Amino acid sequence: MPRNFLRILDVDNDTAAALVARAIEMKKAAFRGATFAGKHAVLIFEKASTRTRLSFEVAVHQLGGQTIFMTPHESQLGRSEPLRDTARVISRYADCIVVRTFGQEKVEELVRYADVPVVNALTDSYHPCQVLCDVMTMTERTPDLSGVKVAWIGDGNNMANSWISAAARFPFALTLACPEGYDPDAAVLAEARAQGARVDLVRDPYEAADGAHYVNTDVWASMGQEAEQKEREAAFAGFIVDDELLARAAAGVKVMHCLPAHRGEEITDAVMEGPASIVFDQAENRLHIQKAILEWVMA
Ligand code: CP
Ligand code: NVA
Repeated sequence: MPRNFLRILDVDNDTAAALVARAIEMKKAAFRGATFAGKHAVLIFEKASTRTRLSFEVAVHQLGGQTIFMTPHESQLGRSEPLRDTARVISRYADCIVVRTFGQEKVEELVRYADVPVVNALTDSYHPCQVLCDVMTMTERTPDLSGVKVAWIGDGNNMANSWISAAARFPFALTLACPEGYDPDAAVLAEARAQGARVDLVRDPYEAADGAHYVNTDVWASMGQEAEQKEREAAFAGFIVDDELLARAAAGVKVMHCLPAHRGEEITDAVMEGPASIVFDQAENRLHIQKAILEWVMA
């Protein structure tokens, strides 16, 4: 059975911690390896990407391998060839599948039919590689996360679900402020809480930000929700990470965003460009965490 990385909740605490530690070590060493020597990773992306695609491609290359990037537009996926057939075909050529798609059931279907590891590069439900990267980014600054409060301001989306999952694996406390109707997945919340996650859900962004060491946000309309942009703008009014909100946070608060950001919507330009922002360190760390994840799934 190949190893897969679909959700943070699917790996145990030790594995999650080891992946973060390994990524930090790889970053320090500017690590180059041979995990993928003579091997190929196929990247299936059904949604747009800058960071995830580039960091996975560079990561595979730095691990000695080759990548093939595939979208529905120029493959038979766009002409309705089922994923289960695609998974079996890729397994005959390549050694790993990195997939960005819509429903979580699609990555689960890939796993069922593929004979090679599958890595979730974002679904509507989760963005596990990003949030593991975000935990790495916090750990570099705060090695002991047990006294850390993380605030999530905005949509209860794939990122929020992954942060909740991470709170079950790492000892930080998480408070999410989401507008009514935009809560994170209740099942994910229950699963994470049952495994010890310290997670609070509130409606007031200022309450979430209160005393927070890390403040996180994300776009109001995720990929696939473009048609809801206008109604979301109304629902998320006030859920903006600005200097006023940061004044409620702990001294030295850091601001995180997985990017791409919509300046003037969920975050101000001043905060993005200001001293609290660590968004580009976060973006850099995608590369290091992808190498750790790829090494782990291929082991
Ligand atoms: N954060 C992130 O996943 O960015 P991309 O959509 O550019 O890959
Ligand atoms: N929640 C966003 C994250 C993008 C990296 C989306 O799914 O579009």
